Amino acid sequence: MNEWIERGTKVIMNTYSQFPIVLEKGNGVYLWDSDGKKYLDFVAGIAVNALGYNDSDYVKEISKQLKKLQHCSNLYWMTPSIELSEILVQNSCFDKVFYCNSGAEAVEAAIKLSKKYGKKFHGENCYEIITMKKSFHGRTMATVTATGQTKYQKGFNPLLPGFSYVEFNNFNELEKAVNKNTCAIIIEPIQGEGGIHPAEKIYLEKVRSLCNKNDIVLVFDEVQCGIGRTGELFAYQLFDIEPDVVSLAKGLGGGFPIGAMLATQNKADALQPGDHASTFGGNPLACTAGKVVLKKLLYEGVLENVQKQGTYLKSKLIELQERYEIITDVRGHGLMLGIELNCSVKDIVKECIEKGLLLLGAGENVIRFVPPLIIGKKEIDKGIGILNEVLQQFQK
Ligand SMILES: Cc1ncc(COP(=O)(O)O)c(C=O)c1O
Repeated sequence: MNEWIERGTKVIMNTYSQFPIVLEKGNGVYLWDSDGKKYLDFVAGIAVNALGYNDSDYVKEISKQLKKLQHCSNLYWMTPSIELSEILVQNSCFDKVFYCNSGAEAVEAAIKLSKKYGKKFHGENCYEIITMKKSFHGRTMATVTATGQTKYQKGFNPLLPGFSYVEFNNFNELEKAVNKNTCAIIIEPIQGEGGIHPAEKIYLEKVRSLCNKNDIVLVFDEVQCGIGRTGELFAYQLFDIEPDVVSLAKGLGGGFPIGAMLATQNKADALQPGDHASTFGGNPLACTAGKVVLKKLLYEGVLENVQKQGTYLKSKLIELQERYEIITDVRGHGLMLGIELNCSVKDIVKECIEKGLLLLGAGENVIRFVPPLIIGKKEIDKGIGILNEVLQQFQK
């Protein structure tokens, strides 16, 4: 066994079943392990490394900030968080930003905001939240309760009261589940962990009207599908449906831990001083990382690249589907794509890694494609070539 893995197994808690490789460095869309083996990366730290690895501006700007101010409390103002918020607000339907450090914290913040809003305007019992089956919202107690998959909840009862779950893209079921105590509906515009399931536009339109009619906070969890993944800065823009609140993390820091909740003014007003906080929220290094990511997405062609390469990658996946019967579906938007197989994907993913392509499952039988947003055609061809070789072995 690799010496690092032996040492890690002794001291790191056993909550992940890691693949047996030790990643040491990266450049562009490639990673190298401790034995010097090179991997093409179609995982990007699970939809995180938007700019890939070692982007020179990213390294330069964070290094500059590192020498200026590493952290200070939110009891004082800091320039990077103000600047990042301005970019987010100017390029979205939202007015205010709250910073935290992860996706779960961003959804947690949205849950707290929604409860305060519901109670303020509709009474003490207005705290119920409806989420979708097959959703994923995080691992804290509130967000694992919000997650519509029992496999993540097993062993953690009692969960939080007030949550109910409905089938994704089924408006009738959702409409029936809404009552006078519903304060929020939480939806991933594209379900990630649940298997790359996009929402239908017509569904989101109806949900928007339902929320308007009943003054329910509509939360989009864009932790995975936001920040350029779909080819739009926000996934809601792809569907042309504006939520009241959005949760962000992953790609926002391009590898630096940051989470954010954005809200429209009257929803944001539900939270007042003392209601919510995070020591590290809005950290100047994390916000500097966010500024570089957004600048590149918006002004240096990365969003356009996602649209172009996303279309290309999808066309290559459809070609594979035509060639291999085991592929039963190809779905997703931009560079958040998935193929569904009629068998477990575990061994296929393992074999691809063996051949130098990092891939990732999303559930039992879906392979997910969430590469760095800067990926080019040549690298897509290379990755598809490896996958093709592996699929040949698995086709009966
Ligand atoms: C849609 C969604 N929400 C929330 C989370 C939780 O994010 P984190 O792992 O940063 O807490 C994830 C993570 O995969 C996610 O995909």
